[in-house]
Amino acid sequence: MWSRNDLTRRLRIDWPVLQAPMAGVSTPALAASVSEAGGLGSFAAGALSAEAVREGIRAIRVATSRPFAVNFFVPSGPDTPPGAEAFAAAAEAVRPFREELRLGPAATPSPPPPFEDQLEAALSEDVPVVSFTFGLPPAAILERLRRAGVFLLGTATTPAEAAAVEAAGCDAVVAQGAEAGGHRGGFPVAGDPPALIGTLALVPRVVDRVRIPVVAAGGITDGRGVAAALALGASAVQCGSAFLACAESGAPPAYRETVAAVDDGDRTTLTDAFSGRAARGVRNRFVAGLAGRPVLPFPFQNGLTRDLRAAAARAGDPGLLSMWVGQGPSPRAGTGAAEVLASLVRGAAAVLDALSRPGDCS
Ligand SMILES: Cc1cc2nc3c(=O)[nH]c(=O)nc-3n(C[C@H](O)[C@H](O)[C@H](O)COP(=O)(O)O)c2cc1C
Repeated sequence: MWSRNDLTRRLRIDWPVLQAPMAGVSTPALAASVSEAGGLGSFAAGALSAEAVREGIRAIRVATSRPFAVNFFVPSGPDTPPGAEAFAAAAEAVRPFREELRLGPAATPSPPPPFEDQLEAALSEDVPVVSFTFGLPPAAILERLRRAGVFLLGTATTPAEAAAVEAAGCDAVVAQGAEAGGHRGGFPVAGDPPALIGTLALVPRVVDRVRIPVVAAGGITDGRGVAAALALGASAVQCGSAFLACAESGAPPAYRETVAAVDDGDRTTLTDAFSGRAARGVRNRFVAGLAGRPVLPFPFQNGLTRDLRAAAARAGDPGLLSMWVGQGPSPRAGTGAAEVLASLVRGAAAVLDALSRPGDCS
C-alpha cells in the first residue's frame, strides 16, 4: 500500500501527510482535525509562552487522542535586544505604516519566550512528536526528549543540514524546498543568504544523503504533489499552504481570500521585512515599502511588527498583513481540514494509480 511505510507506522498515522506547523495561523483545532482524520497535525509553539504551549497541547488533547506534533523555533538570533540606534532606524522604517493604522510609536521589542521553558512545557504534557526549525537544539535537550520517548523531527534546506539532523539523532528530517511558504527553516550562518533549493531537487538529494525518513515540504498543495514527493523517495509530505484557507485555519479573512484567489504569476517573494528572517509570502505594500530599509534581526523585527500585523488583521488590510504562502497551486477555501487531507490522499491515489497503468498516464 503506497500510503504505509516505516515513518507512518512509527508516527502511528494512516496517511503520509503532516500538516505543517504555522505560527500565528495553525490553531489547536486545525492540528486536532488533521490528526483525527489520520494525518499528523502540528501545533506551532515557536512564538508562544510556556503557559500558551501547555494550553494549546491540552486543547488538542480534548479534541483527539491521536498523535500530533509540537513545533519550536531553535533560538537563532542575537540574545540581547538591539541597541537604541538600530531600533530607532527600524522603527522609523515602519512608522508610516503604523500611522496608517493609527498606531503610536513602536515599543522596544521584548525578547522571545525562553526556549527551555517552552520545551519543559511540552515535556510535562508528554507530547508524542516534537519538530524543530532554524537549526538544532543542544545535544542535552535532544537527549532529554529522546529519553522521554519523543519522536524528533528536524528541518533541513540542504543535504548538509539534513546530515546534521541525522547525526544529532533525530528520527526523521523535513526537507524544505525553496517553494515553501513561511520562514526558511535552515541553519543560520550570519550574513549568508538562505539556501533556496527547489523541492524537486532537494528531496532526492536528501534521500541520497541520509538513512532516516525524509518528509518533503514546499509547494505541495494537492495529490499530484504528494505523489511526486513519494516518487522522489520521501516517506511523507508536510503541507502548510494547503491548509491556510480551510475552516480551522486561524488566518484572518483578508489573508484567506488572498491566498485562495487564482494566482497566474508568482505573487510571493522572500522577505525579512516582517520578522528579520527570510520568509516566503505575498509581496504586498508593506514588503515593497520595507525593501532596502533597516530591519532588526530575528526575532526582534517580529516583535517590532507584532502589533502592526494584529492591527492590519483587525482592519482587514491585506497590504500590511504578513501573508506567508508557498508557490504551489492555490489552496481550496472553505472546506474543513479533514476534507483537505482526504483530497490530498484521494488525489495522490488517483495519480499513482494512473501512473501504474501502462500507456495511460494522462
Ligand atoms: C503561514 C505559515 C507559517 C509557518 N510557520 C512555521 C512554523 O511556525 N514552524 C515551522 O517549522 N515551519 C513553519 N512554516 C513552514 C512550514 O513548516 C512548511 O515548510 C511550508 O508550509 C511548506 O510549504 P507549503 O506552504 O508550500 O506547503 C510556515 C509556513 C506557513 C505557510
